[in-house]
Amino acid sequence: MAQQAPTALPTETTPGWRLGFQSLETEHREAVELEVTGELPTDLRGTLYRIGPARHEAGGERYRHWFDGDGMVHAIHLDGGRAHYRNRFVATAGRAEEERAGRRLYAGFGTRPAGDNAVERFRHAVRRFAKNTANTNIVEIGGRLLALWEAGHPHRIDPVTLETIGEDDLGGALGRNDWFSAHPKTHPSGDVWNFGIGYGARTRAHLYRCRTDGSVSREITVTLPFPSMVHDFALTERHAVFVVAPLTLPPVPLGMMLGSRSFADSLRWEPRRGTHVGVVDLETGETRWHRGDPFTMFHTVNAWDEGGSVVLDVCAYPDAAFMRTLFQLMTGNVTTHASAWPERLVLDGSPRIRRQRLSATSLEFPRVAPSAASTGSPRTSPAASSASPRASTSPSAPSPPRRRERTSSPGSWFRSPGGAPATSPTSGCSPWCSTRRREAPSCASSTAPTSRPRRWRRCASRTPCPSASTATGWRPPEAAPRLGLRVVERARWCHDH
Ligand SMILES: [Fe+2]
Repeated sequence: MAQQAPTALPTETTPGWRLGFQSLETEHREAVELEVTGELPTDLRGTLYRIGPARHEAGGERYRHWFDGDGMVHAIHLDGGRAHYRNRFVATAGRAEEERAGRRLYAGFGTRPAGDNAVERFRHAVRRFAKNTANTNIVEIGGRLLALWEAGHPHRIDPVTLETIGEDDLGGALGRNDWFSAHPKTHPSGDVWNFGIGYGARTRAHLYRCRTDGSVSREITVTLPFPSMVHDFALTERHAVFVVAPLTLPPVPLGMMLGSRSFADSLRWEPRRGTHVGVVDLETGETRWHRGDPFTMFHTVNAWDEGGSVVLDVCAYPDAAFMRTLFQLMTGNVTTHASAWPERLVLDGSPRIRRQRLSATSLEFPRVAPSAASTGSPRTSPAASSASPRASTSPSAPSPPRRRERTSSPGSWFRSPGGAPATSPTSGCSPWCSTRRREAPSCASSTAPTSRPRRWRRCASRTPCPSASTATGWRPPEAAPRLGLRVVERARWCHDH
């Protein structure tokens, strides 16, 4: 996708959405009281955090893409019927470096490396990959407030002053070049799962588990069928789900390496590949792949297990036209109108993805009630869940050994400075709770922990097993996933062996 020359910025009087793409430089580091229209409940107490790109240029050079702006955290604190507001830029190292230099130094998602000529751009591409803008999501995990950006480490933020404490490697769970994506998911057990993509000879997704006991570990690594942009994933009680769309990065992104193209410019729409969905067993790490007609997406809506199948709701774009829209947003003149539609994908024993459009109304930036996350619709009650086949058989067998790659020190990350267990999704709000009730003893929207469900596993019994199913799984061959080859792996599944 060719880059577009930035046009004149919208003015102060520009109405509507264009205002959101102007830089916001003003910080309120001290809380300012907000005027309240109406009346706030006096016992409503807590802080709502928001984050997004706020500075869209460096040294007077405007970024070409919405996603490249420096992140700013906003906080609205409610207490005793009053509301106070703070906002503050995330003090990233790259932003400080550019401020000192007085000019743009870094590339971004859609902004190519800095420099007036090819030699300068090449030099910058070699020296600096991209600026960690910390602008995509802000979540509280284990008592730490984290500003997230998917191609780097989280930044830890002081929840009161919004001061940046620094990059956080999650107690050593993240290596120097590991990434931690911007849309972690809370498991019904209370653990938080997230992933990080690693591009290379093979593109991999590393799954991280942030336990409520304080440990963070890389649990599973999944090799993707081809290098693709993966922004979000989904989580069920038993599975992580990845959508790998045919919006691909070349095996050798020469333009990006030479500094002539940004990451987004380097992406190619290759519909012939189709869209692949990987269903990863959280217990064993085994992945089965499904394939369907091409579509792409940024965000999942929700996912849950339904018997031996996984149901996944996504916001699906029919093609990659939205990538042009994202560039055009920064120019103030959008001519490519691309919409995502809510679709349900059923991932069952077939290697094909079954798709169903859920609404004629387009949908993006979805959110579900935490009580429904990973378990289905809010109407799905625990009683209904217990009627599933996996809960109607004999007690489960001992779990097979997990693929544990690296574990950080227990307690090093989920503990508050005082040593007491910090607020976690099991004791307070989940990261998806709209109002972060840090001080509240409980939150009605938090997800209560549930008992560990029984799991289907490949049946290893040599003799007939009464609880075995005839389910069949498909997965790409481990040895050559990028060739697009595919084998059918027939297996019986049971709870016992
Ligand atoms: Fe997102």
